[in-house]
Amino acid sequence: MKFKTVFVCQKCGYEAPKWAGKCPDCGEWNSLVEEVKQQESKKAPARTRSFTDFSSEIVQLSASKAVKEPRIETHISEFDRLLGGGLVKGQLSLLAGAPGIGKSTLMLQVAAELSKNLKVLYISGEESISQISGRAARLGVKGDNIFLHCETDIQKIVESVQNVNPDVLILDSIQTVYHPEFTSSAGTVAQVRECTGELVRLCKPKGIITFVLGHVTKDGELAGPKILEHMVDCVLYFDTEKDNVLRLLRPHKNRFGSTGEIGLFKMTGHGLESVENASEYFAQTSRDRALKGRAYSLALEGSRPILTEVQALVSPTRYPFPRRVSTGVDLNRCLMLFAALEKHTGLPLDNKDIFVSLAGGVKLKDPALDLAVCAAVISSCKEIPLAPDSVFMAEVGILGQAAKVPLIDRRLEEAQRLGFKKAYSAAVTKPEKEKLSRMTLAELADLGELTLKLR
Ligand SMILES: Nc1ncnc2c1ncn2[C@@H]1O[C@H](COP(=O)(O)OP(=O)(O)OP(=O)(O)O)[C@@H](O)[C@H]1O
Ligand SMILES: [Mg+2]
Ligand SMILES: [Zn+2]
Repeated sequence: MKFKTVFVCQKCGYEAPKWAGKCPDCGEWNSLVEEVKQQESKKAPARTRSFTDFSSEIVQLSASKAVKEPRIETHISEFDRLLGGGLVKGQLSLLAGAPGIGKSTLMLQVAAELSKNLKVLYISGEESISQISGRAARLGVKGDNIFLHCETDIQKIVESVQNVNPDVLILDSIQTVYHPEFTSSAGTVAQVRECTGELVRLCKPKGIITFVLGHVTKDGELAGPKILEHMVDCVLYFDTEKDNVLRLLRPHKNRFGSTGEIGLFKMTGHGLESVENASEYFAQTSRDRALKGRAYSLALEGSRPILTEVQALVSPTRYPFPRRVSTGVDLNRCLMLFAALEKHTGLPLDNKDIFVSLAGGVKLKDPALDLAVCAAVISSCKEIPLAPDSVFMAEVGILGQAAKVPLIDRRLEEAQRLGFKKAYSAAVTKPEKEKLSRMTLAELADLGELTLKLR
């Protein structure tokens, strides 16, 4: 067998014969790492075997029968909803997140629920049996049907899957396992790719529900090659800061459901608890007083409305260039809104620092927040407190015009349910308006009208 050294980009998997500062393929800096590669003889089968036992028969689409996959529920309500109703046999999911965010905790809870009917094999390359059982005791997990194995050698893992023959496999984490045929250290592109491939080939044909846990880099991206995301059916990311009690789980890819949904959890001593009523968590300040610079909005994440509190602080600057800072909302979007406010309403913002933030540590991209950002900025700049029972939802364009946002009827209904008395939005249709019985609606054409109505 011959060996050769190659330099592999740890981000995209590109192989270069020489080291370079920048990956020629994906443009990442300092991502090439030296790896020793075995050169396969010409006759040996290529490494890129098919991942699954796909049949090589050719069939007509209309003749092939579609099997509606029954969903296996985890009975963790937020997790099931996020997955599109539950798990599917043979589904391979990747769960990634920052250290300490709760990946192992969630998996143990999922294992506990699934083990009521299915056999679960939990493989850990990060923790000892006693650490895992300590956590299990804290979470109140009994687990007669959960088998633990601490191992990092993928070939031994494959063996133990064959011996135990589980219905569910959990691997914590992909960055700790290695393939002994490859000399590079665990966590490198080659190792991550091969070990995942090994799992796909093993678990898909057997219909084993597989969860692979993964680390993220400090930018919040999955550590390892992008190819990993292509190999799995479902990619779930924990999306919140670690010190927040609230944990947001977001699908970046889902072959069996929508990626618009989010799962909300609260970290407690007994594990992650599903948060079904999102509204009370994101709105932080109490709603009994009018405050300067605070405006409420109803954002949608997937199909779920989230009450959002937009806070703005506008204050005279001490710097030659005023500062513009946003947390939770896109800064470029905010800059556009500030410019539109100056241009179309004459709001004097050029010598002011502006800080915009979403309470509760959420990050949202919903255009409905535009109007709330504008209202909060006007309120802080002009020192007009906004009524705590008003809610603002409309997209604002560069011409200062307000536009209706999707699913406005659902948002209005939810706002009404939460006790809001007045909604500011762009013009809505009659049927959308008719549903409102306890709330008045102020229909705005543009930012000028918003300024007049807030006075
Ligand atoms: N007694 C406790 N009470 C409340 N929360 C706890 C307790 N013990 C641990 N936690 C929470 O659990 C988190 C650790 O969870 P877990 O080990 O599942 O994270 P992880 O994502 O698997 O981390 P890693 O990347 O290190 O494997 C801690 O950050 C903390 O928030
Ligand atoms: Mg862990
Ligand atoms: Zn690259």
